Amino acid sequence: MAFNANLLLVTAFLCLLSVHHGSACFPAIFSFGDSLQDTGNFINTFANTTISKLPWGITYFHKATGRYSDGRLIIDFIAQALGLPLVPPYQGGRNFSRGANFAFGGATAQDLNTLAGLGLNVTGIMNMPLQVQIDWFQDLLKSVPSLAGKISTTEVVIYLSFR
Ligand SMILES: *[C@@H]1O[C@H](CO)[C@@H](O)[C@H](O)[C@H]1NC(C)=O
Ligand SMILES: *[C@@H]1O[C@H](CO)[C@@H](O)[C@H](O)[C@H]1NC(C)=O
Ligand SMILES: *[C@@H]1O[C@H](CO)[C@@H](O)[C@H](O)[C@H]1NC(C)=O
Repeated sequence: MAFNANLLLVTAFLCLLSVHHGSACFPAIFSFGDSLQDTGNFINTFANTTISKLPWGITYFHKATGRYSDGRLIIDFIAQALGLPLVPPYQGGRNFSRGANFAFGGATAQDLNTLAGLGLNVTGIMNMPLQVQIDWFQDLLKSVPSLAGKISTTEVVIYLSFR
C-alpha cells in the first residue's frame, strides 16, 4: 500500500513542478486509508468520541473535525497544493465533485478474518478493511455517474495510507 501511495504522490508532485496549475492536473482526489488520512468518517459514524472535541483541530480548524491531529493532515496539504478543496469525508460529506475521502480511523488494509488467520491478535481492532472503503467508492460512482465519467477520462489522485 505504501509503495502505491508513494508512486502516486511522485506523479502529483511532478505535476506541480510542471507549467500547469495544480487543479488543471488533477480534477479530484480520492483517498483511502486509516486515521492518517481520515477527515471525518470516524466521528460522523461514531458521534462523541475522544477526538470529537478540542484540542483536536485546535491549531488550524479551531474545532474538532474528525482529524486525528491538532491541525491538517498530509491529505489536506496535498489538496491545497493541487488547488482542490479539502477532501470531504464520504460519511456525512455532501459535494464529492472534486473527490471524496473514504479513510476511516483504525482501518486495516486486510479484513480481520484474514489477519486473524495470519495468527494476529485482532481483539478490539476496528473492522473497517480497505474493501469496505472500495465498496463505498463504487456506491458513490453509481450514484454520481458524471463522476465515473470524469474518472474514466482524466487522471485523478488516488491516495492510500495504511500502517
Ligand atoms: C460525550 O461523552 C462524554 C464523556 O463520555 C459525556 O460526558 C457527554 O455527556 C457526551 N455528550 C453527548 C452529547 O453525548
Ligand atoms: C459541487 O462543487 C462544484 C465544484 O466545487 C460546484 O461546481 C457544484 O455546483 C457543486 N454542486 C452542488 C450541488 O453544490
Ligand atoms: C489480544 O489483545 C487484547 C486487546 O489488546 C488483549 O487484551 C489480549 O490480552 C490479547 N490477547 C493475547 C493472547 O495476546
